[in-house]
This record gives sequence, structure tokens and C-alpha cells, in this order.
Amino acid sequence: MSTPANSAYDRTPLIAGNWKMNMDHVQGSSLLQHLAEALSEAKHNYGRVEVAVFPPFTTLSAVQTLIQDDGLDLVSGGQDLSPFDSGAYTGDISGQFLAKLGCKYVLVGHSERRTIHGETDETLNAKVHAAYRHALTPVLCVGEGLDIRQAGTHVQHTLAQLRAGVDRLSTQQAAELVVAYEPVWAIGTGEVAGPEDAQEMCGAIRTELASLFDADVAARTRLLYGGSVKAGNAPAILNETDVDGVLVGGASLDAAEFANIAGFERQLAG
Ligand code: PGA
Repeated sequence: MSTPANSAYDRTPLIAGNWKMNMDHVQGSSLLQHLAEALSEAKHNYGRVEVAVFPPFTTLSAVQTLIQDDGLDLVSGGQDLSPFDSGAYTGDISGQFLAKLGCKYVLVGHSERRTIHGETDETLNAKVHAAYRHALTPVLCVGEGLDIRQAGTHVQHTLAQLRAGVDRLSTQQAAELVVAYEPVWAIGTGEVAGPEDAQEMCGAIRTELASLFDADVAARTRLLYGGSVKAGNAPAILNETDVDGVLVGGASLDAAEFANIAGFERQLAG
């Protein structure tokens, strides 16, 4: 099935930095300031992109204060949220708290949450719904491990995660969703999937969204690739038709490198 081209819809490229469990609030403030400087110096180097950072919960407030007070052209998101809104859930963070801190996005189902914390597809679907209840845009992470890639069933596996994650969403919610395809074997390993692997899966995800919802939803949903993205490999990946952004881990901790990723369009033009 062919889907409408990127340019016909407002799929602004999303360059997302997942800081994981790095950067306390002092370090995070410093990184954000450096990033804002690097982005503004390079402003003439990059086109229309949205840059988002996902700091640890305890760093979010400092990040939000800087974004607000200095009028930075950046948005923030949480790395996780509770499927519940409030109550006796020790250690959990409500989407309501993230929204109050000005977060626009929240990661749901990062592979480190799925594996280390045993999060199931059912829990993740509840988290996706919780995000929408608090006007947060979920970034639903999906992707296969090495064994599944080697068995050749990576598309079926990833689409099953997608179907479970978007269960019971309205078409309007689905159109706002962001999906991040992150092959687990490429996360933090230096192994990057080729642009054609990213396109294969993002194309399959878009086709699946068209059949689960409709062609308009499929054309509007932004699809990211994640896994060892760096300034050097980002342009070729982002040049693929169905890749609308990147979710960056390690390289997002280096302000200059991350700003260069946001400037991918210049490299493509040059
Ligand atoms: P990486 O992490 O860029 O360090 O591979 C990506 C991610 O886990 O989101």
C-alpha cells in the first residue's frame, strides 16, 4: 500500500534526546544551556525541526525552568509514566505531574523498560491511554531483539507490539501519536541499522496504521528511528521516506553532536 508523501503532511522532523539515567539537575541544566547555544549558533544550518529532550524525572523541573525563562526553542518529555493518575503507587510518576511541568511528550515502552522492568504490552497500552488523559503525546517505542532479527520475524514482532500499544485509541489520538522503532540490538551497541532497515520497518508501521485506523492517520503519525544514531549516520536515516525523526540516546549527552544531528538537513543539502 502506498502512503502519502511526507511533504504533503505536517510531519515536522522530531529530534529527540533520551538522556536515560544520566544528568542530575545541575548537570542537566548545564547540558541544556550548551545545547541551546549549539542549536542557536547552528540555527542557519538547520531547517524546520522540533528538538525534544527527555531528562530523568528529577532533572525535568530545572530543564523546564530554563526552557521557560530563557525562551528556548526546545520541548521536554518524561521517560516513563504511571498507567494510573494518582494514589498508592510508590515510586511512580503520574502523567499529570509531567504535564504540570510543561512536558509535551512521554516515552512509553522503551526497550529498557520492557526488559529491565518487565513491562507488558497491556501495561504499555494503559500508559499510552494515561498519556492522552493528561494531554501528553506518547512516543511509543517498539522494536525487536537480536534473536528475532536473526529469525527474520522482526516485522511481525514489531507490528504486534504496535497493535497492542495503540489498542482502543481514537483516530484523532492515533494521528497525534509518535512511534519510535528501535531495534534492541542497535541500542547503545554502536550497531546501527541501515537506512533501508529503518525504512523497511517505518514503512511497515505506516501501512499497519493505515489498516488499523485510516490513510490520513498513517500519513500524519510521526515515525522515529532509534539505535546508535550519531551526526554521521543521521542524515541518511532521516532521508528515508517514512522516517520522520530520531530518538537518540548516547549522542544526546553531547550538545555539539546532538545539535549536529538536528542540523541533518544541511548535510543532506551539502
Ligand atoms: P543509543 O540509545 O542512541 O545510545 O543507542 C537509543 C535509545 O535507547 O533511545
